Amino acid sequence: MKSRILSLLSLFPLLIACNPEEYSPVVKDGYEINPPVYFGDYQERIPNDNPITKNGFALGRKLFYETALSADNSISCGTCHQQELAFTDGKAVSEGVEGKLGKVSAMSLSNLLWTENFTWTGKFNRLTDQSLDPIKNPVEMHLPLEQAVEKLEEQGYATDFQKAFGSYEITVERIGKALAQFQRALISSDSRYDQYLRGEIQASPAELNGMNLFFTHPIPGQLRGANCGDCHLGPLTSGDIDEFQGFHNNGLDTDETMDSGLMSVTGKPEDKGRFKAPTLRNIAVTAPYMHDGRFKTLKEVMDHYNSGIKNSKTLDILIIEGSNEPVGVHDEIRLHLTEKEKEDVIAFLHMLTDESFLNNPKFSNPH
Ligand code: HEC
Ligand code: HEC
Repeated sequence: MKSRILSLLSLFPLLIACNPEEYSPVVKDGYEINPPVYFGDYQERIPNDNPITKNGFALGRKLFYETALSADNSISCGTCHQQELAFTDGKAVSEGVEGKLGKVSAMSLSNLLWTENFTWTGKFNRLTDQSLDPIKNPVEMHLPLEQAVEKLEEQGYATDFQKAFGSYEITVERIGKALAQFQRALISSDSRYDQYLRGEIQASPAELNGMNLFFTHPIPGQLRGANCGDCHLGPLTSGDIDEFQGFHNNGLDTDETMDSGLMSVTGKPEDKGRFKAPTLRNIAVTAPYMHDGRFKTLKEVMDHYNSGIKNSKTLDILIIEGSNEPVGVHDEIRLHLTEKEKEDVIAFLHMLTDESFLNNPKFSNPH
């Protein structure tokens, strides 16, 4: 129960930030997304100039799976973002046209309406921009955007654009908008954890213990906790809405070995090694883990947080202070969880798998 209240509380800033009156939801041909109330309001998160419509969603879906949007017609967004893997690709780092390897792992796509910083380093804050980047990116689809427009004209897409946007014109902006509409509709809200939150099912003792640990900041001698909820917030389990905007250094590397992370965008040394705390929805199906895919299993992830933290100048205070033993007694920064506790947290992480999302025919390849 405690975890339930905590996770609802963590959404509180989001709830009060919303002002439904500023949004006019009267959209002809609107596509219903109906997220659960505990996700917070959503209508004001949809840009006024790009409401989700049935035809816009349909076009976005076609484009998402369109290999013509890559230089050699070999890959689409759906190659690196595969539905059954919660829109990841099972690889440590992604592979673009001609087998070109990227530097980071493809990210899971769900509930994107509630995230405002896209990519591991927060390169974009508009989903429309984020959606156009992979098309032109040399290690992804590597197709200049003007050519993307030409190729879609040749493929006979003009009618789809007419249905979605009211005229036959194919533009770069419209491609981005349609892709954004499709992706905003990728709502995952029927995991066992959601069913538990809605009072539809009982959680097992292991799941309940794991859930409590996940959301509890430990107090040595008083309260056992695994500290995860400090950064992976709430029922959406994405961390955008905390005071650090969801970017943290979670102790993967030392100062010498770490990637620059958020610093590559902001230029600030205090952002070195800080990465987006991604959604943990469907995490059981999105291995390997972390921005560079270094961990193969959730067990390895738990061992990292429990006893593998590397110290550095920008290591997050929430990790330094999060321990089940008094800090300072031991040299290393450790959570000090038992094997059983680690297993229980993993049991909770498995509760976040949403089979109906992974198998929803509306999100599959329409070609
Ligand atoms: C070659 C593999 C690849 C292809 C193709 C690809 N992506 Fe990605 N995607 C990635 C990687 C890798 C990241 C993380 C990028 C980073 O951090 O710099 C990512 C990140 C994203 C994100 C950010 C998610 C978040 O929570 O921040 C979105 C949205 C996204 N991709 C959408 C798309 C769309 C739309 C397309 C097609 C136009 C596409 N991707 C094509 C590999 C790919
Ligand atoms: C200080 C903030 C913080 C805390 C505390 C924290 N995480 Fe994370 N977590 C992150 C960040 C940031 C990333 C991405 C790091 C990267 O890839 O460089 C991450 C990544 C992950 C990933 C990999 C996600 C993916 O898509 O590859 C998993 C799984 C995960 N965390 C689970 C947990 C669990 C379980 C706990 C508690 C034991 C926890 N985290 C505690 C910030 C945190």
